Amino acid sequence: MKFTLDSTFAPVIETACLVIGVFSKAALQGSAELIDQASNGALQKLIDSNDIDTSLKSTTLLHGLSGVAAKRILVMGCGEAEKFTAVRYDNVCKSAGAFLRDHAVTSAHICLNDLATGDLGEYWCLRQSAVSVAWSNYLYTATKAPKDDDHRPLKTASFNAGAEMQPALIEARGFAKGYQRSRELGNLPPNICTPAFLAEQAREIASSYQNVSIEVLDQDEMAELKMSALLAVGRGSRNGPRLIVLKYQGKDETSQPVVLVGKGITFDTGGISLKPGLHMEQMKFDMGGAAGVIGAFEACADMQLPLNVICIIAAAENMPDGDAYRPGDVLTSMSGKTIEVLNTDAEGRLVLCDALTYAQRFKPAALIDAATLTGACVIALGNHASAIMSTHDDLADELIDAGQEAVDRGWRLPLWDDYQEQLKSSFADMKNVGGMPAGSITAGCFLSRFTEGQRWAHIDCAGSTWKWGGDEGSTGRPVGLLTQFLVNQA
Ligand code: BES
Ligand code: MN
Ligand code: ZN
Repeated sequence: MKFTLDSTFAPVIETACLVIGVFSKAALQGSAELIDQASNGALQKLIDSNDIDTSLKSTTLLHGLSGVAAKRILVMGCGEAEKFTAVRYDNVCKSAGAFLRDHAVTSAHICLNDLATGDLGEYWCLRQSAVSVAWSNYLYTATKAPKDDDHRPLKTASFNAGAEMQPALIEARGFAKGYQRSRELGNLPPNICTPAFLAEQAREIASSYQNVSIEVLDQDEMAELKMSALLAVGRGSRNGPRLIVLKYQGKDETSQPVVLVGKGITFDTGGISLKPGLHMEQMKFDMGGAAGVIGAFEACADMQLPLNVICIIAAAENMPDGDAYRPGDVLTSMSGKTIEVLNTDAEGRLVLCDALTYAQRFKPAALIDAATLTGACVIALGNHASAIMSTHDDLADELIDAGQEAVDRGWRLPLWDDYQEQLKSSFADMKNVGGMPAGSITAGCFLSRFTEGQRWAHIDCAGSTWKWGGDEGSTGRPVGLLTQFLVNQA
């Protein structure tokens, strides 16, 4: 979807569909007010007669309003003005995007940035409307032909602002591309999206953007580095593991990079500790952390941020097999620390620990991993927030703030020493599981043992990266949170 700017007076702009927002029980503002004046009060009359629903996220399509050049007007309900927040604004934009995707028009002029208020600035509103309309314009077609009558995604969208707002659109394009990439990778089936496929996709990104290079380590190269934990997880699958390293240089070499590490389990059967069959197909989303960091990396490369960023993907498939690793095995990680495997379904932390050890050679300014690490995170936070864990308060705060700004929220969980007890093992330096209590935190504690001395944070996106039921599939998260973090660092 292409974005353009057009500050033409709303009533005279020629467009297939003009998109405006209206609050409940409040005076019309911005383009909505201009449209009302041009149509001799027709818009206000329709609101007063309840023909336009002003409740949050509602959509009303008007045709051929007199005095207005646009063929159609999509009126978005915004609810009560006093209750309007960044999240509600984002909801309105996504609802508009979904409506436009599923209707006849393939281009629109969007004026939702007129809803900017004191708290929600012009620049942010414009950017976020572009990001979120594009987000909900996404349509999965890789293995399912679209039916023309059901969906007609927008090809172009223009936004109601002048050329001085171009930077907001450039930023929006970065976020949109990142989300698109992440969602597509998440949604692709596990027989297509294998570790080797992730590596190919990363290669494609490397060749499409300036200042990006790539290195892909195969099994032998990882063995040389003694990445026995990562290799153990991958051993049960014919689709061999990969360590993918993407580098973006937006600043001089001496500037320390932000290093993003992603859990790229392309399918998680649980291994020998096999998962139950019901809903196992959802474990294709177990590379959501990898998709998120790849998406954020691509966003950064697209925006050409003045920053160095390295993205490391620990890609493997967790399968049961005659050669699979087993409960009881003791693995020696790349760090030298030994791990007693109690459950082969706690595989994410095993691939991540070696990737996190590897990451330290790049002397990160910040080291951040994203992973669909625990079912317990879904229980705790549902679909609405990623869990953020860090022993560095300032880094945790920066990530939480970035999540607020991008409407891709994170919520912090503690990593107190007290929880470390649960990882004690009689046969190794630690166990790979910490028992039932605080499952997300003990997973974070496990990772913390491989990031000592680092400015590190862990993002558990098990609940946020995909959605079950209704609007099913990948959300692309935490692309927004991570991309905003990178923008704020630059
Ligand atoms: N990929 C799963 C976590 C997960 C579960 C993500 C459900 C999304 C939805 C992870 O590899 C896993 O299996 N974790 C186990 C850990 C346990 C064995 C300590 C879990 O959460 O049950
Ligand atoms: Mn698992
Ligand atoms: Zn997993």
